[in-house]
Amino acid sequence: MICRQLFDPVSSTYTYLLADERSREAVIIDPVFEQHARDAALVRELGLKLLFSIDTHCHADHVTGAWRMKVAFGSRIALSSVYGACNVDLPLSDGDVVRFGSEWLEVRATPGHTAGCLSLVTRDQRIVFTGDALLVRGAGRTDFQQGDAHRLFRSIRERLLTLPDECALYPAHDYEGRTSSTIGEERVHNPRIGGGAREEDFVGYMENLGLPHPKQLAVALPANMRAGEPEGGRLPSQPDWGPVVVTYAGVSEIAPEWVAQHRGEVRVLDVRSPAEYGGELGHLEGAQLVPIDELRARASEVPADRPVVVVCQTGRRSGLGAAILKKAGVAHVASIAGGMVRWRELGLPS
Ligand SMILES: [Fe+2]
Repeated sequence: MICRQLFDPVSSTYTYLLADERSREAVIIDPVFEQHARDAALVRELGLKLLFSIDTHCHADHVTGAWRMKVAFGSRIALSSVYGACNVDLPLSDGDVVRFGSEWLEVRATPGHTAGCLSLVTRDQRIVFTGDALLVRGAGRTDFQQGDAHRLFRSIRERLLTLPDECALYPAHDYEGRTSSTIGEERVHNPRIGGGAREEDFVGYMENLGLPHPKQLAVALPANMRAGEPEGGRLPSQPDWGPVVVTYAGVSEIAPEWVAQHRGEVRVLDVRSPAEYGGELGHLEGAQLVPIDELRARASEVPADRPVVVVCQTGRRSGLGAAILKKAGVAHVASIAGGMVRWRELGLPS
């Protein structure tokens, strides 16, 4: 099974992309609204068919990216039925199974942090995604959103610590850079519930954490009750000048075919050396030449009255060139995917 852990540094949220290697069918767990472009790029680049976005619970500290994934890939939105949230295609309950290819996730209700918290266990019980129920050396707070330390104690004891010792634990959050643990490790070392802690130990700990309210609470909760659909359905603004695709590497790219059809609407910047510019691949007519090693110093020479498309031999240096121009304040800029090599392979006119 493909299993990728992604991180949102603003909310310290972990997102997980899981896929069946053969069929490429995939699910994403706890996607973050603002990380949509990154996560969507990874889904595309790995050639996955995203079937479901699953939120382990209705989050208070970030807005889910579930609705944006549905718009992009037609994936179905899964969340506990307990919340009664809108836009949920697959309301989940304890004992349900979410299938993707030959893999599946078993749904375990682990309430306590919120009333609808779910943990997700892989087919072979080698991994459990615990949401905010059991964290690495911690546990989700229980002081708002129908939180209940007694319920959380029972959830962790009866539904999570009963998994095999070697079962890897992947949480929804960590604030100290810890990425995973195991059930056996938490059973011994978890400072709140490990080492044979009793219910009163755990509840006494949880009720005296003295945590500040999450910063995004007022925004996140109502948005998450719509599975992350923005009010009025408006998506964050996309580049309106052309079909720019942001790669998982963070490079803004545009297809050479589109550039060929819209030459009059863009400026072409070639960042190769003068020798390459005049060499066998040739260059696009009217392309401005600023070699990549001079671009930082000469960025102001590139007119930004029209969108700028950057080209090189294969699209590597032009990707860096686009990033340099963006940093210099050029808002509408993208690298021509595949560069002059691809341009020539496609037989496009200079
Ligand atoms: Fe949470």
